[in-house]
Amino acid sequence: MDFRVLLVENNSIILDQSVNAINKAPGFTLAAKYKDSAGALGQGKVFRPNLILLDIDSEENIQVIPKLVREYPHATILCLCTQWDAELTARVMRAGAAGCLVKPFSAPELVDAVKALESSGQNVTSEVITFFSPKGKSGQTTFVANTALRLAAKEQKNVAIIDANLQFGDMAIFFNLAPTTTIVEACRDVKNLSPVSLTSYFVPATAQVSVLCGTRKPEDAEKIIPKNFVELIGMVRSRFPYVLIDLSVGFSEFTVSAMEASDLTFLVASEDSVFENRHLKKALYVFEGWGDTLQDKLKLVYNRVQNTSNAYKQQLEESIGYPITAFLPNEYDLVSRAADEGRMASDIRPESKLSTAINQLLRDLHGKHQIRWEKS
Ligand SMILES: Nc1ncnc2c1ncn2[C@@H]1O[C@H](COP(=O)(O)OP(=O)(O)OP(=O)(O)O)[C@@H](O)[C@H]1O
Ligand SMILES: [Mg+2]
Repeated sequence: MDFRVLLVENNSIILDQSVNAINKAPGFTLAAKYKDSAGALGQGKVFRPNLILLDIDSEENIQVIPKLVREYPHATILCLCTQWDAELTARVMRAGAAGCLVKPFSAPELVDAVKALESSGQNVTSEVITFFSPKGKSGQTTFVANTALRLAAKEQKNVAIIDANLQFGDMAIFFNLAPTTTIVEACRDVKNLSPVSLTSYFVPATAQVSVLCGTRKPEDAEKIIPKNFVELIGMVRSRFPYVLIDLSVGFSEFTVSAMEASDLTFLVASEDSVFENRHLKKALYVFEGWGDTLQDKLKLVYNRVQNTSNAYKQQLEESIGYPITAFLPNEYDLVSRAADEGRMASDIRPESKLSTAINQLLRDLHGKHQIRWEKS
Protein backbone atom coordinates (compact mmCIF):
# COMPACT_ATOMS: atom_id res chain seq x y z
CA MET A 1 0.00 0.00 0.00
CA ASP A 2 1.61 3.23 -1.07
CA PHE A 3 -0.37 6.07 0.50
CA ARG A 4 -1.53 6.25 4.08
CA VAL A 5 -3.82 9.25 4.14
CA LEU A 6 -4.58 11.53 7.05
CA LEU A 7 -7.67 13.57 6.22
CA VAL A 8 -8.69 16.83 7.87
CA GLU A 9 -12.05 18.18 6.71
CA ASN A 10 -14.30 20.55 8.67
CA ASN A 11 -17.41 19.93 6.60
CA SER A 12 -19.09 16.62 7.59
CA ILE A 13 -20.67 15.96 4.19
CA ILE A 14 -17.41 16.53 2.32
CA LEU A 15 -15.58 14.51 4.96
CA ASP A 16 -17.77 11.50 4.11
CA GLN A 17 -17.40 12.04 0.36
CA SER A 18 -13.63 12.30 0.71
CA VAL A 19 -13.45 9.11 2.77
CA ASN A 20 -15.37 7.34 0.01
CA ALA A 21 -13.05 8.63 -2.69
CA ILE A 22 -9.92 7.62 -0.72
CA ASN A 23 -11.29 4.13 -0.11
CA LYS A 24 -11.97 3.70 -3.83
CA ALA A 25 -8.58 4.99 -4.98
CA PRO A 26 -6.19 2.10 -5.68
CA GLY A 27 -3.07 2.30 -3.54
CA PHE A 28 -4.63 4.69 -1.00
CA THR A 29 -5.69 3.83 2.54
CA LEU A 30 -7.38 6.13 5.01
CA ALA A 31 -5.12 6.15 8.06
CA ALA A 32 -7.10 8.69 10.10
CA LYS A 33 -9.74 11.40 9.67
CA TYR A 34 -10.37 14.52 11.70
CA LYS A 35 -12.94 17.27 11.65
CA ASP A 36 -10.38 19.82 12.77
CA SER A 37 -6.65 20.25 12.57
CA ALA A 38 -6.18 20.13 16.36
CA GLY A 39 -6.94 16.40 16.32
CA ALA A 40 -4.47 15.80 13.49
CA LEU A 41 -1.75 17.58 15.41
CA GLY A 42 -2.49 15.76 18.62
CA GLN A 43 -2.99 12.12 17.76
CA GLY A 44 -2.42 11.58 14.04
CA LYS A 45 1.26 10.74 14.39
CA VAL A 46 0.70 7.15 15.50
CA PHE A 47 -0.82 6.36 12.10
CA ARG A 48 2.41 7.33 10.29
CA PRO A 49 0.62 8.95 7.34
CA ASN A 50 2.62 9.86 4.24
CA LEU A 51 -0.10 11.99 2.64
CA ILE A 52 -2.11 14.65 4.46
CA LEU A 53 -5.25 16.03 2.83
CA LEU A 54 -6.04 19.31 4.56
CA ASP A 55 -9.20 21.38 4.15
CA ILE A 56 -8.02 25.00 3.78
CA ASP A 57 -11.40 26.69 3.59
CA SER A 58 -10.71 27.96 7.09
CA GLU A 59 -7.88 30.34 7.91
CA GLU A 60 -7.15 28.32 11.04
CA ASN A 61 -6.17 25.28 8.95
CA ILE A 62 -3.91 27.37 6.70
CA GLN A 63 -2.12 28.64 9.79
CA VAL A 64 -1.52 25.07 10.93
CA ILE A 65 0.49 24.01 7.82
CA PRO A 66 3.95 24.85 9.22
CA LYS A 67 3.13 22.86 12.37
CA LEU A 68 2.03 19.88 10.27
CA VAL A 69 5.27 20.10 8.28
CA ARG A 70 7.23 19.92 11.53
CA GLU A 71 5.15 17.11 13.04
CA TYR A 72 4.99 15.07 9.84
CA PRO A 73 8.31 15.61 8.09
CA HIS A 74 7.73 12.44 6.04
CA ALA A 75 4.28 13.38 4.74
CA THR A 76 3.22 15.37 1.71
CA ILE A 77 0.49 17.91 2.38
CA LEU A 78 -2.13 18.37 -0.30
CA CYS A 79 -4.65 21.13 0.44
CA LEU A 80 -8.36 20.83 -0.31
CA CYS A 81 -10.19 23.99 -1.39
CA THR A 82 -13.72 24.64 -2.67
CA GLN A 83 -12.44 26.91 -5.39
CA TRP A 84 -9.11 26.99 -7.15
CA ASP A 85 -7.19 30.14 -6.28
CA ALA A 86 -3.67 30.72 -7.60
CA GLU A 87 -2.76 33.16 -4.86
CA LEU A 88 -3.97 30.87 -2.11
CA THR A 89 -2.14 27.92 -3.71
CA ALA A 90 1.10 29.93 -3.78
CA ARG A 91 0.56 30.87 -0.14
CA VAL A 92 0.03 27.30 1.11
CA MET A 93 2.98 26.10 -0.95
CA ARG A 94 5.21 28.70 0.67
CA ALA A 95 3.99 27.36 4.03
CA GLY A 96 5.13 23.85 3.06
CA ALA A 97 2.18 22.22 1.26
CA ALA A 98 2.75 20.49 -2.08
CA GLY A 99 -0.34 21.87 -3.85
CA CYS A 100 -4.12 22.08 -3.90
CA LEU A 101 -6.95 19.82 -4.99
CA VAL A 102 -10.48 21.08 -5.52
CA LYS A 103 -13.13 19.36 -3.39
CA PRO A 104 -15.22 17.34 -3.41
CA PHE A 105 -12.85 15.07 -5.32
CA SER A 106 -13.31 11.64 -6.86
CA ALA A 107 -10.93 8.68 -6.58
CA PRO A 108 -9.45 9.24 -10.10
CA GLU A 109 -9.00 12.95 -9.33
CA LEU A 110 -7.03 12.09 -6.20
CA VAL A 111 -4.85 9.61 -8.11
CA ASP A 112 -4.23 12.19 -10.86
CA ALA A 113 -3.35 14.94 -8.38
CA VAL A 114 -0.72 12.75 -6.73
CA LYS A 115 0.65 11.65 -10.12
CA ALA A 116 0.93 15.29 -11.19
CA LEU A 117 2.93 16.09 -8.06
CA GLU A 118 5.30 13.22 -8.77
CA SER A 119 5.82 14.17 -12.40
CA SER A 120 6.58 17.74 -11.37
CA GLY A 121 9.60 16.37 -9.54
CA GLN A 122 8.05 16.36 -6.08
CA ASN A 123 8.27 13.18 -4.16
CA VAL A 124 5.08 12.08 -2.66
CA THR A 125 6.55 9.04 -1.01
CA SER A 126 10.17 8.62 -0.18
CA GLU A 127 12.21 6.25 1.90
CA VAL A 128 15.17 7.37 3.97
CA ILE A 129 17.37 4.50 5.10
CA THR A 130 20.25 4.98 7.51
CA PHE A 131 23.07 2.45 7.74
CA PHE A 132 24.67 2.23 11.15
CA SER A 133 27.28 0.13 12.80
CA PRO A 134 28.23 0.27 16.47
CA LYS A 135 31.84 -0.64 15.78
CA GLY A 136 32.77 -0.13 12.14
CA LYS A 137 34.59 -2.23 9.56
CA SER A 138 31.41 -4.20 9.00
CA GLY A 139 31.34 -3.67 5.23
CA GLN A 140 28.74 -0.94 5.72
CA THR A 141 29.88 1.35 2.90
CA THR A 142 30.05 -1.61 0.52
CA PHE A 143 26.49 -2.50 1.54
CA VAL A 144 25.22 1.08 1.04
CA ALA A 145 26.81 1.45 -2.41
CA ASN A 146 25.57 -1.92 -3.67
CA THR A 147 22.08 -1.35 -2.26
CA ALA A 148 21.90 1.98 -4.11
CA LEU A 149 22.80 0.30 -7.41
CA ARG A 150 20.33 -2.55 -6.88
CA LEU A 151 17.50 -0.16 -5.97
CA ALA A 152 18.17 2.09 -8.96
CA ALA A 153 18.38 -0.89 -11.34
CA LYS A 154 15.22 -2.56 -10.10
CA GLU A 155 13.04 0.48 -9.59
CA GLN A 156 14.35 2.77 -12.31
CA LYS A 157 14.16 5.57 -9.76
CA ASN A 158 16.70 8.09 -8.54
CA VAL A 159 18.66 7.21 -5.44
CA ALA A 160 20.62 9.65 -3.27
CA ILE A 161 23.53 8.51 -1.14
CA ILE A 162 24.69 10.78 1.66
CA ASP A 163 28.15 10.00 2.95
CA ALA A 164 27.65 10.92 6.60
CA ASN A 165 30.60 8.98 7.92
CA LEU A 166 31.76 12.32 9.23
CA GLN A 167 35.45 11.80 9.81
CA PHE A 168 36.45 9.06 7.43
CA GLY A 169 33.82 8.95 4.71
CA ASP A 170 35.05 7.14 1.63
CA MET A 171 32.02 6.93 -0.64
CA ALA A 172 33.74 9.28 -3.12
CA ILE A 173 36.58 6.75 -3.39
CA PHE A 174 34.13 3.87 -3.83
CA PHE A 175 32.55 5.59 -6.82
CA ASN A 176 35.70 7.36 -7.97
CA LEU A 177 34.21 10.84 -7.63
CA ALA A 178 35.85 14.24 -7.35
CA PRO A 179 33.35 16.41 -5.48
CA THR A 180 33.55 20.21 -5.40
CA THR A 181 30.96 20.42 -2.63
CA THR A 182 30.37 18.07 0.30
CA ILE A 183 28.05 17.41 3.21
CA VAL A 184 29.83 20.24 5.06
CA GLU A 185 28.75 22.94 2.61
CA ALA A 186 25.26 21.43 2.19
CA CYS A 187 24.65 21.52 5.96
CA ARG A 188 26.13 25.00 6.23
CA ASP A 189 23.91 26.37 3.44
CA VAL A 190 20.74 24.38 4.14
CA LYS A 191 18.79 27.36 5.51
CA ASN A 192 19.17 29.21 2.21
CA LEU A 193 18.68 26.28 -0.13
CA SER A 194 15.64 25.08 -2.00
CA PRO A 195 15.17 21.42 -2.96
CA VAL A 196 16.16 22.34 -6.53
CA SER A 197 19.39 24.18 -5.69
CA LEU A 198 20.31 21.42 -3.25
CA THR A 199 20.82 18.87 -6.01
CA SER A 200 23.84 20.80 -7.31
CA TYR A 201 25.70 19.68 -4.16
CA PHE A 202 25.39 16.06 -5.30
CA VAL A 203 27.73 14.34 -7.72
CA PRO A 204 26.27 11.81 -10.17
CA ALA A 205 27.82 8.37 -9.68
CA THR A 206 25.64 6.62 -12.27
CA ALA A 207 22.68 7.77 -14.34
CA GLN A 208 20.41 7.26 -11.33
CA VAL A 209 22.62 7.31 -8.27
CA SER A 210 23.86 10.65 -6.90
CA VAL A 211 26.21 11.11 -3.99
CA LEU A 212 26.56 13.89 -1.46
CA CYS A 213 30.18 13.25 -0.58
CA GLY A 214 31.74 13.21 2.88
CA THR A 215 34.07 15.68 4.55
CA ARG A 216 37.48 16.39 3.03
CA LYS A 217 39.30 16.28 6.37
CA PRO A 218 38.30 14.64 9.69
CA GLU A 219 38.26 17.98 11.53
CA ASP A 220 35.50 19.24 9.19
CA ALA A 221 33.14 16.90 11.06
CA GLU A 222 33.00 19.50 13.83
CA LYS A 223 31.38 21.99 11.47
CA ILE A 224 28.25 19.91 10.97
CA ILE A 225 25.35 20.77 13.26
CA PRO A 226 23.03 17.75 13.79
CA LYS A 227 19.90 19.94 13.53
CA ASN A 228 21.01 21.22 10.12
CA PHE A 229 21.66 17.68 8.97
CA VAL A 230 18.14 16.61 9.92
CA GLU A 231 16.80 19.58 7.96
CA LEU A 232 18.96 18.55 5.02
CA ILE A 233 17.55 15.02 5.12
CA GLY A 234 14.04 16.48 4.89
CA MET A 235 14.99 18.47 1.83
CA VAL A 236 16.83 15.61 0.11
CA ARG A 237 13.84 13.34 0.55
CA SER A 238 11.66 15.81 -1.31
CA ARG A 239 13.86 15.34 -4.40
CA PHE A 240 14.82 11.65 -4.30
CA PRO A 241 12.52 8.66 -3.85
CA TYR A 242 15.32 6.84 -2.01
CA VAL A 243 17.88 8.37 0.32
CA LEU A 244 20.59 6.07 1.71
CA ILE A 245 22.78 7.47 4.49
CA ASP A 246 26.13 5.94 5.40
CA LEU A 247 26.53 7.00 9.05
CA SER A 248 29.60 7.37 11.23
CA VAL A 249 30.45 4.56 13.59
CA GLY A 250 28.90 4.62 17.07
CA PHE A 251 26.21 6.52 18.90
CA SER A 252 26.36 10.31 18.94
CA GLU A 253 23.87 13.16 18.80
CA PHE A 254 24.51 13.20 15.06
CA THR A 255 23.94 9.51 14.33
CA VAL A 256 20.96 9.20 16.69
CA SER A 257 19.14 12.24 15.25
CA ALA A 258 19.77 11.01 11.69
CA MET A 259 18.38 7.55 12.55
CA GLU A 260 15.34 9.14 14.17
CA ALA A 261 14.74 11.22 11.04
CA SER A 262 14.83 8.09 8.86
CA ASP A 263 12.16 5.53 8.06
CA LEU A 264 14.39 2.53 8.44
CA THR A 265 17.81 1.76 9.91
CA PHE A 266 20.02 -1.12 8.90
CA LEU A 267 22.15 -2.09 11.84
CA VAL A 268 25.16 -3.60 10.11
CA ALA A 269 27.38 -6.13 11.83
CA SER A 270 29.99 -8.54 10.61
CA GLU A 271 30.55 -11.90 12.19
CA ASP A 272 34.29 -11.59 12.46
CA SER A 273 34.63 -12.10 16.18
CA VAL A 274 32.75 -13.05 19.30
CA PHE A 275 33.43 -9.53 20.57
CA GLU A 276 31.28 -8.20 17.77
CA ASN A 277 28.21 -9.84 19.28
CA ARG A 278 28.95 -8.40 22.67
CA HIS A 279 29.03 -4.89 21.16
CA LEU A 280 25.92 -5.62 19.21
CA LYS A 281 24.00 -6.58 22.33
CA LYS A 282 25.05 -3.33 23.98
CA ALA A 283 23.91 -1.40 20.90
CA LEU A 284 20.55 -3.18 20.86
CA TYR A 285 20.10 -2.22 24.49
CA VAL A 286 20.44 1.46 23.50
CA PHE A 287 17.92 1.02 20.68
CA GLU A 288 15.33 -0.34 23.11
CA GLY A 289 14.39 3.31 23.67
CA TRP A 290 12.57 3.18 20.32
CA GLY A 291 9.86 1.17 22.03
CA ASP A 292 7.10 -0.44 19.99
CA THR A 293 8.48 0.69 16.64
CA LEU A 294 11.87 -0.94 17.24
CA GLN A 295 11.55 -4.11 15.15
CA ASP A 296 9.75 -2.25 12.39
CA LYS A 297 12.38 0.47 12.11
CA LEU A 298 15.59 -1.37 12.97
CA LYS A 299 16.72 -4.26 10.79
CA LEU A 300 19.78 -6.25 11.71
CA VAL A 301 21.97 -7.28 8.80
CA TYR A 302 25.09 -9.42 9.09
CA ASN A 303 27.73 -8.92 6.43
CA ARG A 304 30.63 -11.13 5.29
CA VAL A 305 28.89 -14.26 6.55
CA GLN A 306 30.61 -17.57 5.77
CA ASN A 307 27.90 -19.93 6.95
CA THR A 308 24.59 -18.60 5.61
CA SER A 309 22.49 -21.55 6.75
CA ASN A 310 19.18 -21.07 8.54
CA ALA A 311 20.37 -23.14 11.47
CA TYR A 312 23.29 -20.78 12.03
CA LYS A 313 20.99 -17.78 11.68
CA GLN A 314 18.71 -19.16 14.38
CA GLN A 315 21.65 -19.85 16.64
CA LEU A 316 22.90 -16.26 16.26
CA GLU A 317 19.42 -14.82 16.78
CA GLU A 318 19.08 -16.75 20.02
CA SER A 319 22.43 -15.56 21.24
CA ILE A 320 21.76 -11.90 20.37
CA GLY A 321 18.06 -11.85 21.20
CA TYR A 322 17.03 -9.97 18.05
CA PRO A 323 15.76 -11.12 14.63
CA ILE A 324 18.27 -11.08 11.78
CA THR A 325 16.77 -9.60 8.62
CA ALA A 326 19.52 -10.72 6.27
CA PHE A 327 22.85 -12.46 5.91
CA LEU A 328 25.10 -10.96 3.25
CA PRO A 329 27.56 -13.62 2.15
CA ASN A 330 31.31 -13.25 2.25
CA GLU A 331 32.37 -12.59 -1.33
CA TYR A 332 35.91 -11.47 -0.76
CA ASP A 333 37.20 -12.09 -4.32
CA LEU A 334 34.35 -10.26 -5.98
CA VAL A 335 34.40 -7.28 -3.58
CA SER A 336 38.20 -6.95 -3.91
CA ARG A 337 38.03 -7.17 -7.69
CA ALA A 338 35.34 -4.48 -7.68
CA ALA A 339 37.51 -2.22 -5.51
CA ASP A 340 40.52 -2.76 -7.81
CA GLU A 341 38.46 -1.86 -10.86
CA GLY A 342 36.74 1.12 -9.20
CA ARG A 343 33.37 -0.58 -9.65
CA MET A 344 30.70 -2.17 -7.50
CA ALA A 345 30.29 -5.89 -6.92
CA SER A 346 26.61 -5.75 -7.90
CA ASP A 347 27.61 -4.05 -11.16
CA ILE A 348 30.26 -6.59 -12.10
CA ARG A 349 28.08 -9.59 -11.24
CA PRO A 350 24.41 -8.73 -10.74
CA GLU A 351 23.80 -12.47 -10.24
CA SER A 352 26.40 -12.87 -7.49
CA LYS A 353 25.35 -14.20 -4.10
CA LEU A 354 25.89 -10.75 -2.60
CA SER A 355 23.64 -8.99 -5.15
CA THR A 356 21.04 -11.73 -4.83
CA ALA A 357 21.04 -11.36 -1.04
CA ILE A 358 20.57 -7.58 -1.31
CA ASN A 359 17.77 -8.06 -3.85
CA GLN A 360 16.08 -10.52 -1.54
CA LEU A 361 16.43 -8.20 1.44
CA LEU A 362 14.78 -5.32 -0.42
CA ARG A 363 12.05 -7.58 -1.75
CA ASP A 364 11.28 -8.82 1.77
CA LEU A 365 10.84 -5.25 2.93
CA HIS A 366 8.39 -4.54 0.13
CA GLY A 367 5.01 -3.51 1.52
CA LYS A 368 6.29 -3.17 5.06
CA HIS A 369 8.01 0.06 4.21
CA GLN A 370 7.63 2.21 1.16
CA ILE A 371 10.02 0.13 -0.90
CA ARG A 372 7.82 -0.58 -3.84
CA TRP A 373 9.29 -3.70 -5.42
CA GLU A 374 6.84 -6.05 -6.93
CA LYS A 375 7.46 -9.69 -6.25
CA SER A 376 9.16 -11.20 -9.25
N1 LIG B 1 30.22 -9.06 1.55
C1 LIG B 1 31.55 -8.89 1.62
N2 LIG B 1 32.38 -9.93 1.39
C2 LIG B 1 33.71 -9.78 1.51
N3 LIG B 1 34.34 -8.65 1.81
C3 LIG B 1 33.58 -7.56 2.05
C4 LIG B 1 32.15 -7.62 1.95
N4 LIG B 1 31.66 -6.39 2.23
C5 LIG B 1 32.73 -5.60 2.49
N5 LIG B 1 33.88 -6.30 2.39
C6 LIG B 1 35.25 -5.80 2.63
O1 LIG B 1 35.32 -5.36 3.97
C7 LIG B 1 36.21 -4.23 4.06
C8 LIG B 1 35.49 -3.09 4.74
O2 LIG B 1 34.44 -2.67 3.87
P1 LIG B 1 33.74 -1.24 4.00
O3 LIG B 1 34.71 -0.15 3.76
O4 LIG B 1 32.53 -1.31 3.18
O5 LIG B 1 33.38 -1.31 5.55
P2 LIG B 1 32.88 -0.16 6.50
O6 LIG B 1 32.06 -0.82 7.54
O7 LIG B 1 32.25 0.91 5.71
O8 LIG B 1 34.24 0.35 7.14
P3 LIG B 1 34.50 1.71 7.94
O9 LIG B 1 34.12 1.41 9.37
O10 LIG B 1 35.97 1.93 7.77
O11 LIG B 1 33.66 2.78 7.32
C9 LIG B 1 36.64 -3.90 2.65
O12 LIG B 1 37.90 -4.47 2.44
C10 LIG B 1 35.59 -4.58 1.79
O13 LIG B 1 36.11 -4.94 0.53
MG1 LIG C 1 32.58 2.96 5.66
